[in-house]
Amino acid sequence: VITDSTVARHYGDRVVGLLSGTRHAELLAFPAGERNKTREQWIQLSDGMFAAGFGRDAAVVALGGGVVGDLGGFVAATFMRGVPYLQVPTTLLAMIDSSIGGKTGVDTTFGKNLVGTFHQPRAVLADVTTLATLPAPQLAAGAAEAVKHGVVADATYLARLEQLRPAVEAGEREALIETVAGSVAIKAAVVAEDERERGRRAILNFGHTVAHAIEAVTGFALLHGEAVAIGMVAEADLGTRLGVTQPGTTEAVRDALTAWGLPTRLPEVRADDLLDAMRLDKKARSGAVKFALLEGIGSAARSEKGEWTFAAPADLVRAVLAP
Ligand SMILES: NC(=O)c1ccc[n+]([C@@H]2O[C@H](COP(=O)([O-])OP(=O)(O)OC[C@H]3O[C@@H](n4cnc5c(N)ncnc54)[C@H](O)[C@@H]3O)[C@@H](O)[C@H]2O)c1
Repeated sequence: VITDSTVARHYGDRVVGLLSGTRHAELLAFPAGERNKTREQWIQLSDGMFAAGFGRDAAVVALGGGVVGDLGGFVAATFMRGVPYLQVPTTLLAMIDSSIGGKTGVDTTFGKNLVGTFHQPRAVLADVTTLATLPAPQLAAGAAEAVKHGVVADATYLARLEQLRPAVEAGEREALIETVAGSVAIKAAVVAEDERERGRRAILNFGHTVAHAIEAVTGFALLHGEAVAIGMVAEADLGTRLGVTQPGTTEAVRDALTAWGLPTRLPEVRADDLLDAMRLDKKARSGAVKFALLEGIGSAARSEKGEWTFAAPADLVRAVLAP
């Protein structure tokens, strides 16, 4: 069972206890936080598995948020050339987003998620009762990705999410289940159509080109979902300026996010630093920064060439990033 220090405290013993008995189960915990989603931790965890005597017949249970899922999944993908794994997400973000779709990996000093693999979990087990211990800002950060699912693919879900919001914030089980199920249905459908992100899966990156740059430049000062919230507003603005996104969309995206108490304003950093960070992002192909953009609320934009991403002139991007 791979987890982080915080989740280990809450649920580690219980999960290892459930698995122990007929099987050899061990808890391997690393210090919580995005800054530990690294190759160094991947070495520690892999070596921890060797030291504990696990071999080719092992399986990994990734118990935690998206950091644990990405790192634990990457350990599973590479341990003895790949062993099966289960995602057991314990943050809203992990339940609705990072545990679905098989992307695993770690960050590097050159950018986020730059080393990794596709490795699908055998199953994803999301128990919404674990969200009871999740701090409110983390819940809101997860909601940012739920809003994203609505704005890129399903306006009806976005409207329902806003109705569910008070109950979700109050931790009501049925509302949490409906939210998770709704988002998972959207993400799973997109991924099933295009697992390797050769086409439409790119729409799930809406907001993320700017978000990853904010994370890199601020040294992860914001939660991932908070950076995504800011990124979605910036990229809606960019799409409108490019004539790709319908006018009024930016305001609707902003309203949907501020309702959750999410930030939507860019942090005070230089636009050129953000641009430099974007050029290192993996969505930058041969130096050109690409953006997944909206057509309007509930639908992603597709270019005349049939592509789901758009290049934007640097000056226009700079104008959006330095309002
Ligand atoms: N693989 C993908 O497709 C994909 C998609 C989206 C995001 N991600 C990645 O996910 C990561 C962000 O995930 P996250 O927001 O879940 O962050 P996280 O894993 O860091 O979890 C946030 C914090 O909450 C704590 N926590 C987790 N579950 C808890 C619980 N039930 N109770 C109390 N505390 C709990 C964690 O210890 C951590 O401190 C980023 O690294 C991002 O790149 C991956």
